[in-house]
Amino acid sequence: MEQDFARILIPRERIQQRVAEMGREITRSYGDDSREVVLVAILAGSVIFLADLVRYLPFKMKLGLITVSRYRGATTAGGETLFKSTLDVDLSGRHVLLIDDILDSGGTIRAVSDELMKHHPASLKSCVLLRKPSKAPKDLRPDFLGFDIDDVFVVGYGLDYNSQYRNWPDIGELRPELYA
Ligand code: IMP
Ligand code: MG
Repeated sequence: MEQDFARILIPRERIQQRVAEMGREITRSYGDDSREVVLVAILAGSVIFLADLVRYLPFKMKLGLITVSRYRGATTAGGETLFKSTLDVDLSGRHVLLIDDILDSGGTIRAVSDELMKHHPASLKSCVLLRKPSKAPKDLRPDFLGFDIDDVFVVGYGLDYNSQYRNWPDIGELRPELYA
């Protein structure tokens, strides 16, 4: 697997350090409200991040997982977000923290947030590991953010190309010849 990478953007040690910091930021930010927190993570990209992050959140919480997919038409800039699974945790009156791997165009976070708001949470915040600031809309700011990165396609630490490389511990760029 290692030979498929052209460049490491964020090495594993740096990721772990930042995830630990984010855990402390989130814990501090919720304070006494932490009793009512529900984490909602978007599969599959956020699983590795989620698994590491929750171990830095030392409070009792509920966890929900959702699967979404986006279909981009050839001629449309946006895309329709489809929910492939429904949540089995009640969000009403809870402090919901949405977890995702990366904020690119922002379409996914926006669509999922709109959907979650229909469940009347007490609050809704977002936590994303990566953001491509050159593409992410200025009005869509994650409440908790791991890293800003260049506008390149990255894999590893949960992020995939063709469902592969999610298990690689660093975040990096693949060699260009691997993109068919
Ligand atoms: P958005 O809806 O354009 O913000 O895209 C977000 C989703 O696209 C993420 O949850 C990822 O699954 C995927 N994605 C965007 N950029 C990358 C990347 O560089 N590598 C892997 N997946 C990506
Ligand atoms: Mg994703």
